[in-house]
Amino acid sequence: MTALTLSTAGAATLRADAVVVGVAKGAKGPVVAPGAEAVDKAFGGKLAAVLETLGATGAEGEATKVPAPSGLKAPVVLAVGLGAVPDKTDAADGEYAEETLRRAAGVAARVLAGAKKAAFALPVATAEDVQAIGEGALLGAYAFTAFQAVPKDARGPLGEAALLGAKPRDKAHKAAAERAVTVAEEINRARDLVNTPPNELNPVSFAAVATAAGKEHGIKVQVLDEKALTKGGFGGILGVGVGSEAPPRLVKLSYTHSKAEKSLAFVGKGITYDSGGISLKPAGHNETMKCDMAGAAAVFAAVVAAARLGLQVNVTGWLALAENMPSGSATRPGDVLRMYSGKTVEVLNTDAEGRLVLADAIAKASEETPDAIVDVATLTGAMVLALGNRTFGIMANDDAFRTSLHEIAEEVGEPSWPMPLPADLRKGMDSPTADMANMGERMGGGLVAGLFLQEFVGEGITWAHLDIAGPAFNEAGPFGYTPKGGTGSAIRTLVRLAERTADGDLG
Ligand code: BES
Ligand code: MN
Ligand code: ZN
Repeated sequence: MTALTLSTAGAATLRADAVVVGVAKGAKGPVVAPGAEAVDKAFGGKLAAVLETLGATGAEGEATKVPAPSGLKAPVVLAVGLGAVPDKTDAADGEYAEETLRRAAGVAARVLAGAKKAAFALPVATAEDVQAIGEGALLGAYAFTAFQAVPKDARGPLGEAALLGAKPRDKAHKAAAERAVTVAEEINRARDLVNTPPNELNPVSFAAVATAAGKEHGIKVQVLDEKALTKGGFGGILGVGVGSEAPPRLVKLSYTHSKAEKSLAFVGKGITYDSGGISLKPAGHNETMKCDMAGAAAVFAAVVAAARLGLQVNVTGWLALAENMPSGSATRPGDVLRMYSGKTVEVLNTDAEGRLVLADAIAKASEETPDAIVDVATLTGAMVLALGNRTFGIMANDDAFRTSLHEIAEEVGEPSWPMPLPADLRKGMDSPTADMANMGERMGGGLVAGLFLQEFVGEGITWAHLDIAGPAFNEAGPFGYTPKGGTGSAIRTLVRLAERTADGDLG
């Protein structure tokens, strides 16, 4: 992966293939952002004018390359747009938002693919800015080439991102850079898993990957195979996985800290391929369904990140892994499953499979009475219709917890929105045969799925559900630090929740 370094060198004196500067949208044209003073000086103070001549406006997403004048050690200057110049009023501090910096650094890293070393002379006001720029650079440099005999992009990723403006001897800045590396590496690990084709990544191979990573990072890993799942009565996970040649798994990852006072359980939907099962998805709806394990990948990555960061909190990850396939042994619409919790569920649509595997994992996680459970899932197309491709929905059985998660997501630059769990939608899941059905009213389908899950949360346990069906997989072109394909959605939110819980900032 791309290396991240902090350098005390000036923007004009560091030897690199390019120096990255920020350009904002001012009232009268582009404005060079702080951090790039030395570069601007080499242009005789005319960098903004040069950029304007080249058509730059300072808009977010913009990248403008300029040959460097003599006086700079780098041959190229890359100006990345930062959007509007931040306000300096009583309410605003005049600093650039962390997510703005993260995205701009991501754009720069993408544009500079193939370069050995780039100097980032973006505005740095705080240690958090160091982390954001570091994350953006490492996330933007990501490429998935494992299945290309001849790499599509022959340039390869940026070799090194050297951050200027950060202080390598400042403890907070150093720690911020280390956090950025850990978080970005784990997000990229999850992206790799999501991008891996489903003939290669199935429940068995996913469990093996988790077992190996657990060993490496001091995390206890337990894998329940189909025999153990049968013995334990995990009817939901088994019912979804029974149609596939690759048997289902429930993986438990336990990270513990000797001084932890709180415990969190993260539960991930890990459908390694969602064909819909007997309620088969039509062509046009199944080509990207390798992404249906993105929740499990996010949970896995977040637990490993918590372990690598040594957070003072216990974090348990539950990966509910199954492949949803049609076959002679597959669950039929009309079958009744006896779930781990003891409830029976009539399967009216085998394509509503995520809630079945999650229900078992949530019920199991509840037995350990964690301080909170958060599940993450590419659960419903309805959530994509409601919130689009970049925003995940947050549902919860506790208003304060839902609000906290929304604030945390905002803080780490992940777009999200709180969604309700309207009680009137519950009756749509009444079944004449079983305790409930796995489907209800079509309208509000994302909320119906949330209400289904809520039935399996242990009494008195705080729970939230993140429906990442929209942002988990980017079918459009790359933007900011987000590549095409797997994105690593919700990982930064989970990690920050663990950090805040460790710090005692939450209830
Ligand atoms: N994995 C899908 C949801 C999904 C849709 C994820 C689009 C990512 C992008 C899920 O298993 C599913 O098929 N949900 C159904 C539920 C319905 C049958 C009640 C849906 O949303 O249509
Ligand atoms: Mn489905
Ligand atoms: Zn699914």
